[in-house]
Amino acid sequence: MSESIKINFAKLPAAPEGIVILLAGEGVTLGPSAEALLAPAGDLLTRAAAAERFEGKAGSALDLVAPAGLKASRLIVAGVGKPGEMKPFDWLKLGGAVMGRLPASAREAAVVLELPSATVSPEAAAEFALGLRLRAYSFDRYKTKKKPEDQTAKPKVTLYISDDSAAKRAWRKKEGIGEGVTIARDLVNEPANVLTPPEFARRAEALEKVGVDVEVLGEKELRKLGMRALLGVGQGSAQESRVVVMRWDGAKSDAAPVAFIGKGVVFDTGGISIKQAAGMEDMKGDMAGAACVVGLMHALASRKAKVNAVGLIGIVENMPDGNAQRPGDIVTSMSGQTIEIINTDAEGRLVLGDVLWYAKERFKPQFMVDLATLTGAIMVALGTENAGLFSNDDTLSVRLTESGLATGEKVWRMPLSPDYDKLIDSRFADMKNTGGRFGGSITAAQFLQRFVGEVPWAHLDIAGTGMSSPASEFNRSWGSGWGVRLLDRLVADHYES
Ligand code: BES
Ligand code: MN
Ligand code: ZN
Repeated sequence: MSESIKINFAKLPAAPEGIVILLAGEGVTLGPSAEALLAPAGDLLTRAAAAERFEGKAGSALDLVAPAGLKASRLIVAGVGKPGEMKPFDWLKLGGAVMGRLPASAREAAVVLELPSATVSPEAAAEFALGLRLRAYSFDRYKTKKKPEDQTAKPKVTLYISDDSAAKRAWRKKEGIGEGVTIARDLVNEPANVLTPPEFARRAEALEKVGVDVEVLGEKELRKLGMRALLGVGQGSAQESRVVVMRWDGAKSDAAPVAFIGKGVVFDTGGISIKQAAGMEDMKGDMAGAACVVGLMHALASRKAKVNAVGLIGIVENMPDGNAQRPGDIVTSMSGQTIEIINTDAEGRLVLGDVLWYAKERFKPQFMVDLATLTGAIMVALGTENAGLFSNDDTLSVRLTESGLATGEKVWRMPLSPDYDKLIDSRFADMKNTGGRFGGSITAAQFLQRFVGEVPWAHLDIAGTGMSSPASEFNRSWGSGWGVRLLDRLVADHYES
């Protein structure tokens, strides 16, 4: 895992030096210790705020270098808007924004976590710290010559807060979520010459350290299970395919697990139906769904979530080759249903069909949620702000939608209905693997639904959110780690005993 910033907690009042960060509400209002800290500087803040038209609005900040009268080398006043209205997600964004304001040279920084009119809860402090961590992430292991401007600050940050021990406890729980997002980002950013399917499986095995039971199925076992749809996708690759099963048994009872399934195409050339050259390099991220599942399992285990959870990922490489699958081929999936391959680039659904079926048969889960960079069409429909949500269950859909709003990892429900089935009827087999240009994300989801039976299920199409999505306050990484916070939240709010 990439090296990250150090975060400490200390009790207010603070007399910090170096880089000092204060929070200001609308109207440039401060808490009492921030006021006291600024007292030796006289009317500095008032004058600077007026000159910069800083009003304490959320997202704005005032940056003063070598402020006269103070020991601080730099004073950053971050606006929070209306302090009473701050939600956890606002604290995450604030932490990210503050991290983004620190100069690259910063070694230490002190944040006074205090508001004019409201106390900062331990949960808020932990979200703030998570925002710092996520913003500080960088994937630079292949940069052998680092220019100063490429260097992201990895300073030691002290958070001053009235109840520092409660804040520290809250952070201990949250830290694992940050690690989970980091694991997911690292996997997505890693190129496919390094992250082959066997290497991906080895990295998943590292979860044993946090108490996750990890089982790796190789091609021989997959053949025995009958996962011929999945194996067909990988058969043109010099690398063997894998399915990894991760289990976290955190509930007291042996209650049915919740199940998370991820698409792990380590590289998608399209296969014989090869993609165009422009932008193909992005297809190293076609395993963002699987990366999220690994990151999520790490998060659940490291915060000792009281839930039984299983994560299953199908890991393959989609390559053109003398041995590759052809358009027109017919494969028999593990479910027994046959599939005519029309386009070898519609490979994700073939992988997921087998893994969803296997998850359902083996674990009889309470629900299944799959994540996949499945279709370009979902970006046409929803852009990069929402993932596509397809589900056979209204309760699960509402819960996912709410968790999305709470974490900022938003989902938007799209339709499923038997009316679309005719688009994937095949002349020769039970179904074909593409449904044409219209409603491309829907027919893909409709295909997946044929492998979930009666289990409550939701499919998240994350082609627009898992990679190459716009930068945010707390994410500058190409691979975003999208979904770890969303699904951790879903579990925490509804499925822990
Ligand atoms: N991995 C791609 C989808 C994708 C495209 C993800 C761009 C992220 C960015 C998927 O395997 C794919 O190729 N889908 C095809 C399906 C089509 C052949 C029916 C697509 O979306 O064009
Ligand atoms: Mn494809
Ligand atoms: Zn793909």
